[in-house]
Amino acid sequence: MLTDKTIVLGITGGIAAYKAADLASKLAQAGAKVEVVMTESATKFITPLTLRSLTNRPVVTSMWELTSEFSIEHVALAEAADIVVIVPATANIIAKLAAGIADDMLSCAVLATEAPVVIAPAMNVNMFQNSVTQDNLAKLKDRGFTIIDPEYGRLASGKMGLGRLAEVEKIIGIIKQVLGRSSDLAGKRIVVTAGGTQEAIDPVRYISNHSSGKMGYAVAEAARDRGAEVTLITAPTSLPEPVGIEVIQVTSAVQMKEAVAKATAQSDALIMAAAVADYQPKSTVKGKIKREIAGADLTLELTRTPDILAEAKGNFLRVGFAAESENLVENAKDKLQRKQLDLVAANDITAPDSGFNVDTNKITLIGKDGEVEDLPLMSKREVADKILDRVAGLLPPPSENSFEVILRPVMVKNHFIGIPALQKTLFPPMNTALVLLTEVGAIETNIIRRGSSGGLKLTKGLIKWFKAHPELKPGDKLRITVLEPMKRYRLEIVKLEYRK
Ligand SMILES: Cc1cc2nc3c(=O)[nH]c(=O)nc-3n(C[C@H](O)[C@H](O)[C@H](O)COP(=O)(O)O)c2cc1C
Repeated sequence: MLTDKTIVLGITGGIAAYKAADLASKLAQAGAKVEVVMTESATKFITPLTLRSLTNRPVVTSMWELTSEFSIEHVALAEAADIVVIVPATANIIAKLAAGIADDMLSCAVLATEAPVVIAPAMNVNMFQNSVTQDNLAKLKDRGFTIIDPEYGRLASGKMGLGRLAEVEKIIGIIKQVLGRSSDLAGKRIVVTAGGTQEAIDPVRYISNHSSGKMGYAVAEAARDRGAEVTLITAPTSLPEPVGIEVIQVTSAVQMKEAVAKATAQSDALIMAAAVADYQPKSTVKGKIKREIAGADLTLELTRTPDILAEAKGNFLRVGFAAESENLVENAKDKLQRKQLDLVAANDITAPDSGFNVDTNKITLIGKDGEVEDLPLMSKREVADKILDRVAGLLPPPSENSFEVILRPVMVKNHFIGIPALQKTLFPPMNTALVLLTEVGAIETNIIRRGSSGGLKLTKGLIKWFKAHPELKPGDKLRITVLEPMKRYRLEIVKLEYRK
């Protein structure tokens, strides 16, 4: 998904600047056109030559040099960008961007761009926690910047603290997620299950299977990269938690059933890639079973696990996997009908390089209409994209103006909802009817004017409604559905305040 994307990579003057070389290299290897802009301070930490060699592109270090094609017009870079990423971001650039200062190529480009901006701060813990830096970051967030929070760890000063640059893999995951917002699954909510469930026999033993979780994780990451909001419900695996995805860890089939029922309540599709145990011990023994006591033979009584798909109610697309060792197509078709699936991905687990615990898979896709698509052996990520091609085709197409915006943090002050300036043009015109869906119910309202900071002022009834629902608290979900034309916005309340 990074192929042919223009990524403007801003590097500023911090110790972590050397890690930007790794990032630039990985982005370039993934096919992106990486345009590096370095501040003067950054060039003290890492040479432009390194970045030039890794990206095979000229590196911009000054507004005044004429060696780069972008130096001629200082906003050309801003216009060319699909995304601007600043790694690492110093306290200084954060302050400059918050204040709108544009005294070097990077700050000019950020001010001029309409592309999404992602910044990864890295600095000394005190610099990071200083209220000035925090206020500046809050301002940038409010304007729609994506901030990749620094991590806790050993800092250059030798101290332990919050301020270490986020891992490069995490930064790449977030870049993909942000770029995916304009892809074919943008605004769709997709629930994916993965891994093999574990059914406890006693506190130390369980029944499970050979599922590695790789297929489900690949589907979840591919859906994220195509713009979906993904919830991954996973049984234990040894895979790293994917970035930009809500991950819910479960152990047993019963736990997975509960998590799926909850997550699918408002989803567009459920993709069941997990290998859910068909049977569980009838009862779990409280203490460890001792062989001296159990004797030579131990009989386990098993009972059926719940049917996760049957219990997940709602109007969403259902995609299942059928791992078969014989009669692949017939058995998969039977599963499709029995479980009322829209699509089934059948894989022959006896075929070499296919099925459990390998990086490749060979599947046959069978649709509700009976159409059978036999795919060649490919990587699990490629298989995931093939499945998602079908899912995207089956889901209702987004209307021309349909999009979804996730805002964090958003201030709900009085009956005014603050919208970051970068996103205000995405919002509907005045007098457009809206339905606000919150965790405690819905209210109809409409926009009566735009606020000076780009927010939307909503009708008076709204404040009364919020007052009547004191149970709403920061962090609750507040979804706005615009009735005409059909659009959906998703907001998160971070602060609720009422003026008298
Ligand atoms: C050795 C050294 C390391 C530094 N490391 C950081 C850092 O990790 N984070 C940071 O915000 N500033 C750091 N600074 C301070 C910045 O380099 C300084 O604020 C500079 O003006 C930033 O310029 P820029 O934002 O234009 O790149 C460091 C300075 C020195 C001398």
